[in-house]
Amino acid sequence: MTGYLTPTTKVRVSDLKAKKARSEAWAMLTAYDYSTARVFAEAGIECLLVGDSAANVVFGYETTNKVSLDEMAYLGAAVVRGAGNALVVVDLPFGTYEASDEQCVKSATELIHRTGAHMVKLEGGERMAPRISALKNAGLAVCAHVGFTPQSVDNLGGFKVQGRDAAAGQLRADTEAVVEAGADMVVFEMVPAELAASITETCPIPTIGIGAGGGTDAQVLVWHDMADLPAGGRRPKFVRQFGEVGAELRNAAAAFKQAVHEGTFPAAEHSF
Ligand code: KIV
Repeated sequence: MTGYLTPTTKVRVSDLKAKKARSEAWAMLTAYDYSTARVFAEAGIECLLVGDSAANVVFGYETTNKVSLDEMAYLGAAVVRGAGNALVVVDLPFGTYEASDEQCVKSATELIHRTGAHMVKLEGGERMAPRISALKNAGLAVCAHVGFTPQSVDNLGGFKVQGRDAAAGQLRADTEAVVEAGADMVVFEMVPAELAASITETCPIPTIGIGAGGGTDAQVLVWHDMADLPAGGRRPKFVRQFGEVGAELRNAAAAFKQAVHEGTFPAAEHSF
């Protein structure tokens, strides 16, 4: 295997902050299991996100709000086992952190205990600042997620770009609030590129964009979108397919079926 810049030491938040200082971009991909985590770590992806998008692409639920802490814990533990030197962030699922700081810290510590992940992510800006402070006081690393927040899709009136025109001030206020509360990095989802770039310029922590243009410090995609493994549902405008894993897998499965039907597999060399 050549050409992959696999980190030779564990990637830490401090490394990602140092990259920001050097204006060096870095990449985050979702991962939900041991094998893909290994592949992505070998490819040199600096940061893996055990996203609650697992609800859609792993479990086939209609919304991310259906995934449980138990489900996230099993997936997260598998990802950590395959992640090599990548930094692993795990999503706090809907319903496990909104009620109180105590609920939030309890859920986050359970997720970290059970997975061995390095950081938790939660959705929300100003309204979640107290939760972020509570997590930091408990000694945890935290990634915030602002702009379009899928767990609030019904509250936001559907899959809509956030921070347009007059709403730009809210995105700035949300970012300032999570920074002030101690967040280590922040995801901007579906926000105008110019706004994301302008906030990134003065934001002291790394910004990670998804549908936020090219001016953020890092980029994240759901791996099924990145490699075109169709998982149902919509394909957002901000996605680019860097591979054709779905087609490749379908062809392999069809070739296997054909060989079995024709009796050409297993051959003598596959037999004892
Ligand atoms: O759950 C997820 O995959 C995410 C990314 C889209 C940022 O939160």
